Amino acid sequence: MNDGQTLEVVVTAIEQVTPLIKHFTLAPAAGGSLPAFSGGSHVIVVMRGASRVFRNPYSLLSAPQNLDTYEIAVRRMEESRGGSHYMHDQVKVGSRIEIAHPVNLFALDKIARKHVMLAGGIGITPFLAQLEDLHGGAVPYELHYSVRSPEHAAFLSRLRARHGDGRVRLYYDSAGQMIDFEGLLSAQPLGTHLYVCGPAGFIGRAVDTARACGWPGSHIHWEQFAAPPTGDAFEVFLARAGRSVQVPPDQTLLEAIEAAGVDVPYLCRGGVCGFCQTRVVECDGELLHHDHFLSDADKARGKSIMPCVSRARGARVVLDL
Ligand code: FES
Repeated sequence: MNDGQTLEVVVTAIEQVTPLIKHFTLAPAAGGSLPAFSGGSHVIVVMRGASRVFRNPYSLLSAPQNLDTYEIAVRRMEESRGGSHYMHDQVKVGSRIEIAHPVNLFALDKIARKHVMLAGGIGITPFLAQLEDLHGGAVPYELHYSVRSPEHAAFLSRLRARHGDGRVRLYYDSAGQMIDFEGLLSAQPLGTHLYVCGPAGFIGRAVDTARACGWPGSHIHWEQFAAPPTGDAFEVFLARAGRSVQVPPDQTLLEAIEAAGVDVPYLCRGGVCGFCQTRVVECDGELLHHDHFLSDADKARGKSIMPCVSRARGARVVLDL
């Protein structure tokens, strides 16, 4: 994917829904309808800052049946490399921004007999659209939503209005309430699928518990929202383009390559989809793999890197680009 495939949208509303989260409504700049999507989809938002372009993935949280507008929510990240601050500080009602077409890497399983969803914080966003897909259907579902405290429970009134009747359960850290992963995951009917979205630790605990309870891998789905890690500056050489690229500490390898005018395909920009996989021609240092796509054996072999999240260290790293 590259920016030739983006859509221009206008920000028609912005709402501060928690102390850290802003909710944006986007309408097509050219009028008409937006492309169809299903619950769990995300879009990449292209943010052209003064000195740098950011491309961050955000889940679509609006109802997939409504293609007049899209809705996304952005959490201000303290450790932001710039993208979330750009959305919070630069984008106003009336701003025009570019987004890529929706992609779904966190889709509901179509033959599940039940859906159990676990959300941590901003990880609620993909579930809002998924719940719209499920609402009124025959397949049972339940959502367990864990937040720091009541003021951080984004979209709670929307959830309660639409999916009351005990299907949505809230857990407040401030009140010492925790999701009982083991109790919940050891007592689900056969054919149930699990979906988890939130911080890495939350996902790790849920997925590890599901595996320990005997859930098959094919029934466990998760999506992580984490900024790509920063690290030391390094330099790579792009063999086919014949040029060196400097990667600063707060820029990803993918962003640095794009800034040098070389396109790399991508979908998730989060180390999950595998689209940006790039062959490593030579490396006399260390590859710092942060993705969830390559196997441990692949990582040890050192012949591939996912530049959306991974970095390198060493005197000479040559990529097949
Ligand atoms: S873009 Fe998906 S793994 Fe890099």
